[in-house]
Amino acid sequence: MKILILHGPNLNLLGKREPDKYGTKTLPEINALLAGLAQELKVEIEIHQSNSESFIVEKIQGSLDKFDGILINPAAYTHTSVAVRDAIAAVNKPCVEVHLSNIHAREEFRHTSLIAPVCIGQISGFGYNSYLLGLRALVEHLK
Ligand code: DQA
Repeated sequence: MKILILHGPNLNLLGKREPDKYGTKTLPEINALLAGLAQELKVEIEIHQSNSESFIVEKIQGSLDKFDGILINPAAYTHTSVAVRDAIAAVNKPCVEVHLSNIHAREEFRHTSLIAPVCIGQISGFGYNSYLLGLRALVEHLK
């Protein structure tokens, strides 16, 4: 089983970026935890971070013949990107949306996710654990 993991814009700054909201773990630290969990669950993962919407759309499109499911933190694109949503709908792969912070407890513009309706579920508010919970949920779903 192969899972594509995508981190959206500004998540490369984790650790330094608003640690009160996003925690103190860096992206490489979170990726190392994901790699450990993937080993435990006996699945393969490929991880990318990008600040560019087109890169994310292209990675989703490219998942068609290569991956069984997608775990994504679309970051700010959650609230704005019809293109990311349409790419997920187009490839029709099980997708889990994750957020470090609880987007529903923050500013009103963060309450709307354009991505959630094309995902099997959303996990939001558990810090780096949102990613680990999301990977577990996706793998369970695919089994
Ligand atoms: C985020 C929440 C988004 O609203 C924000 O734009 C992010 C990070 C999170 O993981 O909590 O960049 O996706």
